Amino acid sequence: MDVVIVSDAAAVAEHAAERIADVVRTRPGAVLGVATGSSPLGSYAALAERVRSGSLDLGGVSAFALDEYVGLDPGHSESYRSVIRRTVTKPLGLDPERVHVPDGVAADLEAACADYERSIVEAGGIDLQLLGIGANGHIGFNEPSSSFASRTRVKTLAPRTRADNARFFASADEVPIHCVTQGLGTILDARELLLVAQGEEKAEAVAAMIEGPLAAMCPASALQLHRRATVVIDRAAASGLR
Ligand code: F6R
Repeated sequence: MDVVIVSDAAAVAEHAAERIADVVRTRPGAVLGVATGSSPLGSYAALAERVRSGSLDLGGVSAFALDEYVGLDPGHSESYRSVIRRTVTKPLGLDPERVHVPDGVAADLEAACADYERSIVEAGGIDLQLLGIGANGHIGFNEPSSSFASRTRVKTLAPRTRADNARFFASADEVPIHCVTQGLGTILDARELLLVAQGEEKAEAVAAMIEGPLAAMCPASALQLHRRATVVIDRAAASGLR
C-alpha cells in the first residue's frame, strides 16, 4: 500500500484528481468506481475544474457507485442516485447512461445485487475505485465484521454510521437502516484503489487500516491485500500513525 501524506484537504483533492485524470488520459473509456460522502467531494471539484478548463474530458468514462440506501426513494435528495448525479455526473460531464448506482428499491434486492455485479464485469471491471473510509473503518458500507470475500449485497448500517450520516437528513431517525453495497471482494477486484481521508476524526481508522492487522473488524485493512492501493491523507488524518 502506498501512503501519501499531504498538508491539507485541498492537497488531498488535488493529488487524487491528478491520479484519476492520469488514468482517464491514458484510457478515455476508463471505468471508475465512485464513492459518496464528504471525503471525495474535493477530488470531484478538482476534476470538474479540469473539465471546465478543457484539460480533461470525462465524456467516455463509465462509473459505478459503491452503495445505496435501501428503501429510500431514488428521487430523495440524499439517495446516492441523487448525490452521484449532483456531485459526479453533472459537474464532471459524464454520460448519465454510463453512470450506475445500485438499486435500493428493487422488489428483489438479491437479484438486483447480482445484476450489479454482472454489469461491472460486462463493463470490463473497474479501472480505479475511489474510496472514503468511515470512522469505524468501513469502506463502501462494508461495516466491521464484513467478509473480505463479500460481493454486492444488502447490509445493515452500523449505529455509528447512521449517526455519522444523520447530518444529511432532517433527523437521525430518517437515516435508512439498510443499504446495498459492493462487497470487499468486489472492491478488491478493481485494478487500482485510491482512498482519500481528511481530518482527525479519521485518524484512528486510518491507523488501523495502514498499521493494524488485516482484520474483518477493520474492513479498510483489506487494502493491504491489494497490489495497487494508494491512500492519500492529510496530516490530521495521519496523526494516529506511529
Ligand atoms: C460512501 C461510502 C462510505 C464513505 C464513508 C466516509 O459511498 O462508500 O464508505 O466513504 O462513510 O464518509 P465521509 O466521506 O462522509 O466521511
